[in-house]
Amino acid sequence: MPGSYSATARAHANIALIKYWGKADESLVIPTTSSLSLTLDGLTTQTTVEFLADGDSATGSAVLQDTLSIDGRLQGGTSLQRVSRFLDLVRDRAGIALPARVASRNTVPFGAGLASSASAFAALAAAASRAAGLELPDRELSRLARRGSGSACRSIYGGLVKWNAGHDDGSSYAEPVENPLDLAIIVVLISAREKPMSSREAMRLTMCTSPLYPAWVQASDDDMRGALAAVSQGDLRALGEVAEANALGMHAAMMAARPGVIYWLPQTVAALAAVRDMRTHGFDAWSTMDAGANVKVLTSAPDAERVADELRNRLPDCTVEVHRPGSGVQMVG
Ligand code: PMV
Repeated sequence: MPGSYSATARAHANIALIKYWGKADESLVIPTTSSLSLTLDGLTTQTTVEFLADGDSATGSAVLQDTLSIDGRLQGGTSLQRVSRFLDLVRDRAGIALPARVASRNTVPFGAGLASSASAFAALAAAASRAAGLELPDRELSRLARRGSGSACRSIYGGLVKWNAGHDDGSSYAEPVENPLDLAIIVVLISAREKPMSSREAMRLTMCTSPLYPAWVQASDDDMRGALAAVSQGDLRALGEVAEANALGMHAAMMAARPGVIYWLPQTVAALAAVRDMRTHGFDAWSTMDAGANVKVLTSAPDAERVADELRNRLPDCTVEVHRPGSGVQMVG
């Protein structure tokens, strides 16, 4: 491959309504359960990948290994290792052995349970494969992104997306789901600080030690069926109820791990209670949470500003942001 090949892609975070929590196969990232998510607008990662031919670098000297910068800061350690390992999958597939320069910009705080790895690896999969000269259809891109971070396979598509757990590399991918509901997700930002334990580690610990984990996995099947039925019937209330129950069940399983994984902060409990109380006052709002202290609230797009204003009144210390459904991964430029 002469010269250097470069591509830029942009992807958005997604929030799961039926969660992914646990891998049946760690190295291939095959989940124990299927999951359902909404890709959001905003919460964006834009990533440029350049594969550099011999001696080709910004400074003119030889580049021997991959480099990664996130929001202008050069990264090393596990972040760079994780990206390099992912790039190896792309290099193998494209039959190239060139180092890459990866630069990514984000509007998502990292590691705070705001699905930053989903937008990051969806954008990286699209940019790296294109820069390596591969033209992958969306399903292939979804399978590739999955290897970087499970939830990233869902950010390849916009709107409502189902990740079929599958049983091997070929059968585990995401696909869009037709959705007659006009949904919005409100992010209640309680903490943008990096979470105390990565989702990868917390999943492993939950799977290996929590007596509640098998029960959550079993319930998840019914939850998925219920969620899909609610969507096809345009029943927001039924969708909200099953989404909230599924997320609370996931956190119950985490808390029962040994030692327990507790992402919640006092404001998390306050936000969950506020949403429940708001429902008794006629608001259509249901909570969900990921691997962090923040709470996301499912509502309808027409009600979103009213629900957000009520949340701001009740939780004056939190930042409350409304998100509409967003698009799937896109090449830029
Ligand atoms: O994509 P990962 O490996 O960071 O896993 C994220 C899992 C949750 O956000 C907690 C749930 C989900 O389905 O997105």
